[in-house]
Amino acid sequence: MSTISIIGSGGMAAAIGGLAAKAGHTVEVMSRDAAKARALAEQIGAGATTGVFAAAPGGDIVVLAVPYSAVLDVVKQYGEALAGKLLVDITNPVGSDLKSFVTPEDSFGAREIMKAAPSDAVVVKAFNTLFSRVLAAGPVEGRPLDVFIAGDDAQAKARVSAFIESLGLRPMDTGQLSMAPTLEHACLLSLGLLAHSVKHTNFSIGVSLLGLGHAPSLLASHHPQGAVSCTYSLPAGPAIPVRISFPTSLQPVTRLLRLPGRTSPQRRCPRLAPKCVAATSMISTG
Ligand SMILES: NC(=O)c1ccc[n+]([C@@H]2O[C@H](COP(=O)([O-])OP(=O)(O)OC[C@H]3O[C@@H](n4cnc5c(N)ncnc54)[C@H](OP(=O)(O)O)[C@@H]3O)[C@@H](O)[C@H]2O)c1
Repeated sequence: MSTISIIGSGGMAAAIGGLAAKAGHTVEVMSRDAAKARALAEQIGAGATTGVFAAAPGGDIVVLAVPYSAVLDVVKQYGEALAGKLLVDITNPVGSDLKSFVTPEDSFGAREIMKAAPSDAVVVKAFNTLFSRVLAAGPVEGRPLDVFIAGDDAQAKARVSAFIESLGLRPMDTGQLSMAPTLEHACLLSLGLLAHSVKHTNFSIGVSLLGLGHAPSLLASHHPQGAVSCTYSLPAGPAIPVRISFPTSLQPVTRLLRLPGRTSPQRRCPRLAPKCVAATSMISTG
């Protein structure tokens, strides 16, 4: 468990701070209004503390839970106090018409924050697509909420993913920080749905992983020397490692998958891992 510092004491600070404390993290609340910080720390409980606004945060992960209109100034006020920190950008740089962005045309919120932060701070976009009340309420019918993340630093993303998972949520990596504007657009998507079809905020945008009936899921990753290793798992059962080897050519090849205790069907399976998942996930478990 780690110490999480949250700058801001509003709805998102309360939601993330509350979940973090429940998960056993130490939460530090930092607000320009010390009384509000104290009140939120008390509400969060579990030993949550307060920090001095613009002083060095105690946590290595720092959640920026202030409006986008304030965040660049806030980051500049902290200045070198944020050196080396992992900054979690949850902001949505949406204009007052709720349809457009206030960021420069050739940029986006997370990049502007990165520019304002010390050069050795790392920015990961996360949590911006979830309404605070939905987040605070946690999983619905046992299904974890999806938290989309984007960032350039793989280690930082792994740490944010682990933090998200510890909260009982499902991290969904969308790629490099250049994907952050897509996540910022996802906020417009939510606002559009809110205004035009759903008409309330008790919903979340998530990913439905489609299987074929009781079909298993396969997680694949690239492996040195042109091989791909997959983990084969059934909804209720142990994961079974599967190694699929490929020649160095990029041509799709047919390979025999040996799944212990199961049929070993032949499938055309392209070398690239994501396509491999698509192809092999059709394997019968029969
Ligand atoms: N609400 C949502 O459902 C939601 C969902 C996803 C992402 N977000 C994003 O999360 C961030 C926080 O949203 P929120 O709903 O928690 O907002 P909020 O409830 O309005 O709280 C905002 C916090 O930022 C502080 N703040 C405002 N201006 C500041 C300034 N100039 N300097 C320092 N602190 C300042 C406020 O302090 P005071 O109390 O002293 O004003 C308050 O603690 C925003 O960027 C928002 O876009 C919100």
